[in-house]
Amino acid sequence: MDTLKHQTVLITGASGGIGAAMARQLADPTVTLLLTARSADRLQAVARTATAQGARTAIYPHDLGQPGAAATLFDRICTDGFVPSVLINNAGFGKKSPFEAEAVATYEAMLTLNVTNLVSLTRLCLPAMLDAGQGGILNVASTAAYQPLPFFAVYAASKSFVVNFSEALHEEYGRRGITVTCLSPGSTDTAFHERSGAPTDVLGPQATPEAVARDGLRALRQGKRSHISGWRNAVSGVLGRIAPRAAAVKVGRLLFAPDR
Ligand SMILES: NC(=O)c1ccc[n+]([C@@H]2O[C@H](COP(=O)([O-])OP(=O)(O)OC[C@H]3O[C@@H](n4cnc5c(N)ncnc54)[C@H](OP(=O)(O)O)[C@@H]3O)[C@@H](O)[C@H]2O)c1
Repeated sequence: MDTLKHQTVLITGASGGIGAAMARQLADPTVTLLLTARSADRLQAVARTATAQGARTAIYPHDLGQPGAAATLFDRICTDGFVPSVLINNAGFGKKSPFEAEAVATYEAMLTLNVTNLVSLTRLCLPAMLDAGQGGILNVASTAAYQPLPFFAVYAASKSFVVNFSEALHEEYGRRGITVTCLSPGSTDTAFHERSGAPTDVLGPQATPEAVARDGLRALRQGKRSHISGWRNAVSGVLGRIAPRAAAVKVGRLLFAPDR
């Protein structure tokens, strides 16, 4: 995928943060943007900006934290006559708290959004890309993916899934013209922290959503397998992968424990 011009791009989590920044950066007269998230008004605002930049846009207010939601979203998109040639699976949320503090329903919604519907949307969008002999998929994981994180356990594990799933598909589909790229942001200045309660100061200053979006879209265009955004995060990602598990999990506790 050496260009993102003339593509029909489906972006989940497009109502704010990194997803909205990607929409603004992709918007030009050659592109069709299919924007989804739950908040219709915020999606509308992102779509207005993209339309002003010349893009064709359609919004799909939709809760991807519900089982089966990927299929209903995909049906609506097909009914409107759109065929995504690029899929950006960006929507996600976490909760930083002792494991027992959150309700079962919260974890089920988190895993449905971060994992199940990401897999389902990928599966649903892939056949048309294979028919066309080209396509691009960008899955947004996190630096939280690279080691177990006490007090952020479910979110971190869900993002480990995203990294492993994406890297496997990259290898599986690269030879068939489809690039699958995983983007791992570190701490980024979005609503994520207010919603998750995660600390903002783990590895130095936060990135802007614009910088992370630019990095991710470049990695997608270059057809990279995986990209960790920001040099501090890249170093921590490598350390998280190679450090002895017992040490990595202790560092995680130091960074994320409520009384740190
Ligand atoms: N910010 C960080 O520090 C950071 C670091 C690493 C990775 N990430 C990852 O980056 C991605 C984007 O997050 P962000 O930082 O841009 O945070 P954000 O500003 O909170 O954006 C999250 C997006 O996901 C959407 N969303 C949340 N729950 C949803 C649901 N049930 N159904 C459909 N859409 C839903 C939100 O829109 P609605 O609320 O309108 O539905 C929003 O558009 C996420 O996958 C996150 O895990 C973020």
